Amino acid sequence: MAQPVGLQVTVNGQAHSSEVPPRLLLVHYLRDVLGLTGTHVGCDTSNCGACTCLVDGESVKSCTVLAVQCDGAEITTIEGMAGAGGELHPLQQGFWDNHGLQCGYCTPGMIMAAADLLARHDGDGPITEAEVRKGLEGNLCRCTGYENIVKAVLAAAEAGQGVPA
Ligand code: FES
Ligand code: FES
Repeated sequence: MAQPVGLQVTVNGQAHSSEVPPRLLLVHYLRDVLGLTGTHVGCDTSNCGACTCLVDGESVKSCTVLAVQCDGAEITTIEGMAGAGGELHPLQQGFWDNHGLQCGYCTPGMIMAAADLLARHDGDGPITEAEVRKGLEGNLCRCTGYENIVKAVLAAAEAGQGVPA
């Protein structure tokens, strides 16, 4: 059996130092080691996007990445999106206001992918519905038909601030 490997990461602003099996996936590190179960496992085969989080500001399907590949990285999960006082992030508010979820299983991944999308689009003028649909095509939802998810992301884009760089 392979020896554990040292891993240092900052997750939602908090530093963590762990010894992990070299084959441990990032999603399992987040959920099982750190207890951050807002990052979901939908498929484990890089199709659904339920496991999406931000690694150094870029959205990543955390079932496709080894935890040790993130050594030294800054990771943001859905638990890190609300403000210190519990105020909702504009994307969370957008999903709330626009009924952008039904079962909610896809929602954390959708929000993290949308955060990256909006951050990358920042300064390019208003994002269009087509750009939102294209940007989220790697995230699957089996409940909503996507209409209200797109509305939620457009509302957050219009609200305009608080999207992580
Ligand atoms: S669980 Fe990672 S893409 Fe589905
Ligand atoms: S709300 Fe159920 S999978 Fe998207």
